[in-house]
Amino acid sequence: MKAVYIASFGGAEKLEIRDVPDPPPPKGTEVLIRVRAAGVNRADLLQRQGLYPPPAGYSPNIPGLEFAGDVIEAGEQAGEWKAGDPVFGITAGEAQAEKLMVDAALLARIPAGLDFEQAAAVPEAFITAHDAVMTQGELKQGEVLMVHAAGSGVGLAAIQLAKAIGAKVIGTSRTEEKLERCREFGLDEEVLTAEPGYLEDHADENAETVDVILDLVGAAFFGANLTLLRPKGRLLLIGLTSGRKAEFDLSVALRKRLKIVGSVLRSRSLEEKGAAVRAFSAEVLPFFEKGILRPNLDRVFDAADVREAHEFMAANRNFGKLVLRF
Ligand SMILES: NC(=O)c1ccc[n+]([C@@H]2O[C@H](COP(=O)([O-])OP(=O)(O)OC[C@H]3O[C@@H](n4cnc5c(N)ncnc54)[C@H](OP(=O)(O)O)[C@@H]3O)[C@@H](O)[C@H]2O)c1
Repeated sequence: MKAVYIASFGGAEKLEIRDVPDPPPPKGTEVLIRVRAAGVNRADLLQRQGLYPPPAGYSPNIPGLEFAGDVIEAGEQAGEWKAGDPVFGITAGEAQAEKLMVDAALLARIPAGLDFEQAAAVPEAFITAHDAVMTQGELKQGEVLMVHAAGSGVGLAAIQLAKAIGAKVIGTSRTEEKLERCREFGLDEEVLTAEPGYLEDHADENAETVDVILDLVGAAFFGANLTLLRPKGRLLLIGLTSGRKAEFDLSVALRKRLKIVGSVLRSRSLEEKGAAVRAFSAEVLPFFEKGILRPNLDRVFDAADVREAHEFMAANRNFGKLVLRF
């Protein structure tokens, strides 16, 4: 089968399409998928540079955290899945190949009305956003959510989920055009953070106005987050694109009794990931079926153009998700 292959660690030029061996037939709870489309994530860019190796059991050379396709064959304990079923889901690696083996617990059925390319834009962004904002952040109707990097794949998913339950959403971005486009996804208020330090400088004016923050940016906004959160506010730290180290006043977290949660999906156990996928199937997919949620698909590249997709994302040109077609 053909697969995206990291020939050696480095820039996008290190990516190739290679012939690699097919996975063996599925056993037990395994399901073999014919991948039709696979999402591109920031994690792939880091893996390509040798900075984010996959967990044990996954090839460091074949990236890919999410996919959409159809079932080729299911193991004897794989439950409901059978050949031909249209499925999508998450994996800790190797999704950017024509065939992929996954555990049945990580699969969900593609809702009617989504093609494979649209479907491949959904799992990582919506499972991450749902698990962070709803399951761990416990966002409720009438509360205020702030999303940093609102025009990102995960950010656009969080905006839509929050609007679907009747919360208010404030989004930040360094790019004005992305904030304008976020309004189409339901964003209520926007904050342009193009100028470094802008959020910190204006945090006192808006102190204690936010219930939940989904932070995909990290160090740059950490101090401002503590000021902006209301007492008993929840901070979900999910991405570190602006850096890992920040200095802040810990007494604020104590006084306001803040909940500060760091979270990753990729390295969780199969049981924990399965639980996140089940919650997504039960609580998020019905909104897709009803047309209340839609994929945040920006553009589709042929798998052969994977270098171009990485360069596009590295330049922050994507608004939402990039997908490779297989
Ligand atoms: N923990 C998890 O399980 C998990 C799962 C999925 C994703 N993530 C992480 O979540 C983040 C978002 O992922 P995604 O796939 O949604 O990304 P994405 O669609 O590529 O968007 C990331 C956005 O971050 C903003 N950004 C980039 N560098 C920045 C900087 N130095 N300072 C401030 N903003 C910056 C850019 O928007 P602007 O226009 O505003 O600059 C960019 O569009 C990534 O860090 C990713 O690794 C974590």
